[in-house]
Amino acid sequence: MTVPFSRPIDTATGAIPTADVVLERRLSDLAHAFAETPDGDDVVYRVYNVDVPAAASDIPFGTTVLLPGKVGDEYFMTKGHFHEVRSRAEIYIGFSGEGLLLMATEDGRHAVEPIRPGVVNYVPGGWAHRSVNTGPEPLVFFAAYVGDAGHDYQTIDANGFPVRVVEREGEPAIVENAAFRPS
Ligand SMILES: [Fe+2]
Repeated sequence: MTVPFSRPIDTATGAIPTADVVLERRLSDLAHAFAETPDGDDVVYRVYNVDVPAAASDIPFGTTVLLPGKVGDEYFMTKGHFHEVRSRAEIYIGFSGEGLLLMATEDGRHAVEPIRPGVVNYVPGGWAHRSVNTGPEPLVFFAAYVGDAGHDYQTIDANGFPVRVVEREGEPAIVENAAFRPS
C-alpha cells in the first residue's frame, strides 16, 4: 500500500530535487521526429518523475523542462507517445514558459492546446500527446496520469504526428506533416 507523501517542486525551473528518475532527451534521441536532420546533440528536455506503483489506483506525476530551440524552422518538442493502455488519460499544468500541446488519434484527428502558466490541459484516453516550446524560455509543466497507462513511443516513431509546429515570420504556425501515416 502506498503511504501518504509530499514532494517539493520548484515551479520556476521545474526541478524536483527528490525525483526518483531524471530522464534527459537529446537531439539524437529525437532524430526522426523533426522534418530536418538535427545538427549536434543538444539536450532538448528533461523529465523529473516521482514513482508510485504502476497501477490504475495510483497517479504517477512529474515535471518536464523543454528547452527553447529549433531544428530548421521546427520548434523543440518532446518525443510524444500514446499510452499503451489507450483509455488512460493525463493532465498537464503549465508552470512557466509558453508552448503548445499537440494531441492526435491513431486515425489522424488532431488537437492543439496552449501550455502556459495557470492553464490545465486535459488529455483524454486515445490521444497521443507531444509538447512544443514556442517561446524563448524553457517550457515547464507538470503532468500526472493513471498509473497503469504505460508509454507507447513506437507508434509515433513509425507514424509521426498529423501536424508540425514551425516558425513563420517570427510566429508559431501549425502545418500539415507530409510524412504522417495513420495506423
Ligand atoms: Fe502520457
